[in-house]
Amino acid sequence: MADEGDWIRVASRADIKPDVVLASLLGDDSIVLTEFEGRVYAISDTCTHEFALLSGGFLDGHEIECPLHQARFDVCTGRCLEGPATQDLEAFEVKIEGDDVYVRKQK
Ligand code: FES
Repeated sequence: MADEGDWIRVASRADIKPDVVLASLLGDDSIVLTEFEGRVYAISDTCTHEFALLSGGFLDGHEIECPLHQARFDVCTGRCLEGPATQDLEAFEVKIEGDDVYVRKQK
């Protein structure tokens, strides 16, 4: 598991595109990377309802839908927008340096 405060390179900026969900790893944590309105966002890949990976779900603007029971989350904040999930996803800080995308846990 990544320590708080550690920036970890998780992807190339060129690989992150609008309407595409890119799965990556932050240490041992599975995350998804998305682009919305020119900004890159990183949230946990694991649905807070039961075990399903959101990287297998459907992206609609800034909302991602879980492939298992269709809970919806905001990819920008991790906020749960629609059940059956009730808990928000963890959202991570993102920084871009050249073509490198770094993510770290929020402090
Ligand atoms: S596992 Fe995601 S909504 Fe049930």
